Amino acid sequence: MTSLSSLLILIGTAVAGASVSSQRTAVPSLLVPSCPRTGTVTYNKSVPDKTDFPPTKVDLCYTDHSIEITFTAKHETNFYFNDSQGTNDAIWQYEVMEAFIYQGTNDPQTYLEFEVSPNNVTFQAFIYNPSKVRAAGAPFDTFFITEPLVDGLTANTTLDKLSETWISSASIPLGLFNVDNGKAKGTDWRMNFFRTVVSPSSFPDQLLGAWSPPDQASFHMTPFFGKVHFI
Ligand SMILES: *[C@@H]1O[C@H](CO)[C@@H](O)[C@H](O)[C@H]1NC(C)=O
Ligand SMILES: *[C@@H]1O[C@H](CO)[C@@H](O)[C@H](O)[C@H]1NC(C)=O
Ligand SMILES: *[C@@H]1O[C@H](CO)[C@@H](O)[C@H](O)[C@H]1NC(C)=O
Ligand SMILES: *[C@@H]1O[C@H](CO)[C@@H](O)[C@H](O)[C@H]1NC(C)=O
Repeated sequence: MTSLSSLLILIGTAVAGASVSSQRTAVPSLLVPSCPRTGTVTYNKSVPDKTDFPPTKVDLCYTDHSIEITFTAKHETNFYFNDSQGTNDAIWQYEVMEAFIYQGTNDPQTYLEFEVSPNNVTFQAFIYNPSKVRAAGAPFDTFFITEPLVDGLTANTTLDKLSETWISSASIPLGLFNVDNGKAKGTDWRMNFFRTVVSPSSFPDQLLGAWSPPDQASFHMTPFFGKVHFI
């Protein structure tokens, strides 16, 4: 064997080892019952450093035709949004709470990105991210959902400035994931939940938080998506 071919074998082994360990990224899991019961996650760790982050709660349940998600931002003091932005604008530059959702068990290449801002504006799009980590130079495409209200994708937002709490709930049709009405029980999902914190004085530098914090300052890293099972 030449030294070059043994070097190539070594490189091949190292690459295979890396892909196995990324499939084994330890991620959290959640059981989600049918409404009105809920499955709940809370998180308080920043992305990517896992330092303190304002406590954030997400309650989920499913109905015959939808996933119902309630996001609760605690210790919220900025309530920062840009009121010139509307549906599907870049609301993620300000403060948002987000859910990334895929029906299946593998690390997805395509998933729904849903976001809501403190003024109840929503962003909803399917993302095509074939590198699964938004690798430099790889495709990364965005397919906007242009008629969310017609589709039944709705939000509801209440702000309580005295108790520093922002609550947004969202109803997301199961049909977006090809789950037929009444067929959600027993399905498996990969999801992650995020929140951004920024104020007029810190803009555009955001504090990022996640249920399952990726190891880089990016939300689009699907090996980190948690495992969700509808019971
Ligand atoms: C963060 O969350 C963990 C797990 O839920 C909890 O044990 C801990 O007390 C929380 N820390 C803060 C500062 O809220
Ligand atoms: C809000 O968004 C508009 C349109 O993108 C932009 O011109 C403006 O500078 C933004 N305002 C703030 C305070 O960021
Ligand atoms: C929020 O947006 C939804 C549509 O997604 C709308 O039905 C609702 O009235 C809005 N307002 C509040 C305060 O939630
Ligand atoms: C919106 O939220 C308010 C306060 O939590 C609640 O009373 C109302 O029923 C909600 N509306 C919808 C359409 O979910």
